[in-house]
Amino acid sequence: MRILVIGSGGREHALVWAISRSPLVDALFCAPGNAGIAQEATCLPVAAEDIDGILALCEREKIDFVVVGPEGPLVAGVVDRLAEKGIPAFGPGAAAAQLEGSKAFTKELCARMNIPTAGFGRYSDPAAAKVWVREHGKLPVVVKADGLAAGKGVVIAETLEAADAAIDDALEGGRFGAAGHELVLEEFLTGVEASFFVLCDGKNALPLVSAQDHKRVFDGDEGPNTGGMGAYSPAPMLTAELEAQVMKEIIYPTLVGMADTGMPYKGVLYAGLMLTETGPQLIEYNARFGDPETQVLMTRLKSDILPAFIASHDGVLDDFALQWKDEVALTVVMAADGYPGDYARGTVIKGIEAANALPGVKVFHAGTKAGPNGEILANGGRVLNVTATGATIAEAQKRAYQAVDLIDWPEGFCRRDIGWRAV
Ligand code: AMP
Ligand code: GLY
Repeated sequence: MRILVIGSGGREHALVWAISRSPLVDALFCAPGNAGIAQEATCLPVAAEDIDGILALCEREKIDFVVVGPEGPLVAGVVDRLAEKGIPAFGPGAAAAQLEGSKAFTKELCARMNIPTAGFGRYSDPAAAKVWVREHGKLPVVVKADGLAAGKGVVIAETLEAADAAIDDALEGGRFGAAGHELVLEEFLTGVEASFFVLCDGKNALPLVSAQDHKRVFDGDEGPNTGGMGAYSPAPMLTAELEAQVMKEIIYPTLVGMADTGMPYKGVLYAGLMLTETGPQLIEYNARFGDPETQVLMTRLKSDILPAFIASHDGVLDDFALQWKDEVALTVVMAADGYPGDYARGTVIKGIEAANALPGVKVFHAGTKAGPNGEILANGGRVLNVTATGATIAEAQKRAYQAVDLIDWPEGFCRRDIGWRAV
């Protein structure tokens, strides 16, 4: 088969790496890819959001199956557009991708299907939103833009003044931009966060393994939120009992609610969970794999992932099983100095080959590009994902940091405590 992966991050490098091992693959393409992906697939210079460009590429290269990495093209309907051309793809259509694209949509589904989640209100009038905050009466309160906001759409307000400011900011076209025409207010949940991934085919759900992300930029979970600074799998706090509870109380009601309203959900469903004293609660859904969680998931996967993606599209996941390694996997994100704020591009990175040569280590590329002489240059905020396996989290962590220390990139940094919660 001729396969196209859409995207250019560490998540897509991990997907390409996993798919490249499939005996079903005759040719593997990535649009647009990065310097690491280019070592395992043919990268073509078409942006992930350029749906017309993607369609043209698929016809030109006679693509048999497409795997979509990021949320932008999913929410914009790339899977529907491909289907119109008869090209099957892994991922939800635009209607089902609203589970990520609209927080209000997801909260209404939760209310209808009795899915455990934080109490909420949705508003487009700032005065009414401020009344909810006062009547609700508990601080902190969470203020969220309705639409996609690239991870910047959430404010946790500790005071009434901060809540009012976040509401004004969101609804008056401030920091959330176009994503903020409507907002969702939520009760603040306390507990431990975990990411849980399920492959879906419209009616059946195949749970993958759990992972733990590290959202804050600095050690000790300090500093601003990022796309994710490191991850490990499995997340020991998400026990088998809790997983079963999540499937029963959150995932299946979601699939039923989506199918009943004519939007059967296909693709990977990424549930952001809060494990609270009263049980798991849904914080949010994403319609895609997590980044960097995918890097640890694909590292632990023993089976061929491609047939699972095809079965998701074909609606036949019911008799499907995937095999996982018993090992732990852990990934450390190396980012450009200044991330998640402003950072420089074009700095030179050395030592990736030495790091890759360590046993049990794989360096996935995120924001990289090849320089004129084949050198690797930083080309984004999150740049490398140094991933290692081990019998324990401590062992995987030790190996990952040994590999990090072989990478020579003075303009980059990483957290030194990935995995702390579990070590
Ligand atoms: P989201 O974009 O909805 O995942 O929110 C980003 C982060 O904000 C989450 O990973 C949580 O750390 C935090 N968060 C979002 N909603 C809540 C909530 N209702 N209670 C507590 N923390 C939350
Ligand atoms: N690592 C968080 C995300 O992919 O949204």
